[in-house]
Order: sequence, then C-alpha cells, then structure tokens
Amino acid sequence: MEKVAVDYEKMYYGFPAILISFYDVNGTPNVTTISSSYTLRDMVALGFNSKGYAVNQIKAVKDFVINVPDRTLSTAVEFCGTHTGYEQSKFDSLELTPVKSPNVNAPAIKECPITIECTLTEAYEREPFKGIINVVAQIKGRYVAKHLLDENGRLELSGLDNIIYAGDGKVRGFRYLQASV
Ligand SMILES: Cc1cc2nc3c(=O)[nH]c(=O)nc-3n(C[C@H](O)[C@H](O)[C@H](O)COP(=O)(O)O)c2cc1C
Repeated sequence: MEKVAVDYEKMYYGFPAILISFYDVNGTPNVTTISSSYTLRDMVALGFNSKGYAVNQIKAVKDFVINVPDRTLSTAVEFCGTHTGYEQSKFDSLELTPVKSPNVNAPAIKECPITIECTLTEAYEREPFKGIINVVAQIKGRYVAKHLLDENGRLELSGLDNIIYAGDGKVRGFRYLQASV
C-alpha cells in the first residue's frame, strides 16, 4: 500500500462520540461531548481540553456518566460539543432527559441506549501535553437498552449504531456503525 506523509495537527481515526453527564457543584445537570476515551475492565480513561466546563466540574464532584448515543442523537452530540456549560445547562436546550443513577451521584441520559456510571480516581495534566487533562475513572455500573441484548443478556452487536467521529483537524464528521437504517 503506497502512503503519503501528511502534516495534520490531529488524526482522529474513528472514535465513538460519547456524552458525559454530571451534576455540577450546584447540583445542576449538564453534559458535554467527547470522543477521546478507552476502557479496560473497570477502568476508563477520557481526554479533555483543560479549559472546558465539564472536566473542571467533574474534578470537583467526581461522579459522572458515560452515555453512548446512537445516530438519532447526532444533533445533540454536535450541540453539546459546540456549546459550553459555562453559559448554560445544555439539557435546557435539548430533548434529552437526565435521570438519577443508582450507584453514582450523576444523571444518566434516558435516550442513550448504553450508560456507564463512573467515579473519578485521577485527573492529571502534564508536560509536554499542557492543556490536556486525562481523567481516569472507576466504572461503578453498566446499563444496556433491552433492544441491544440477546436472549442470553449479552450485547447484540448487530443492533449497535454508535456515532463514530473521525477527522484530520480540518475535515471532521460522523460515520455510523450501521451502514444504513
Ligand atoms: C464530535 C465531538 C467530539 C469531541 N471530542 C472532544 C474530546 O475528546 N475532548 C474534549 O475536551 N473536547 C471534545 N470536543 C469538544 C467539546 O465538546 C467542546 O469544547 C465543548 O464545548 C466543551 O463543553 P464544556 O465547556 O461544557 O465542557 C468534541 C466535540 C465534538 C463535536
């Protein structure tokens, strides 16, 4: 395969867009979009721009929920990723419903088919990557919509329609796990 060297400032080679919901220090629910995440067993790691409202609230309140949206929520994903919680509770502008979580003090989003309860264990910002906060968290609970479960209660992979974010810093956009619906 012949390749060309490129000098993009970013290479997002396809990551699931997720919605991070939390109660801020005043108890108001809010939400933001990220695509920087990975998980291994009961650990999840997330990458945030250090100036954002969500990450600075989560550093204080510790609990949050990872909500995995499907393509029907693409507009909300874009909205939460282009507006800041410093100015508003984004739930007020969206048809998303924050609901209490059993194991953490953070709201889950009713309309998202997969939700994961988390508690922050570590947040750090270090040279040479100043401006980026890595959040490491412990998973406290996982929930999956019934239509995504097979008869054994395992994930029905063919039903997933996650939003995949890809781009090179200038070109950016969404792809979907399902070829069509
Ligand atoms: C698809 C998408 C993916 C994004 N991924 C990230 C990310 O991984 N980390 C991050 O800090 N911001 C990411 N952003 C940008 C934030 O969502 C954006 O800066 C937002 O306004 C921050 O809101 P807040 O100030 O309420 O936290 C993403 C935005 C979009 C639309």
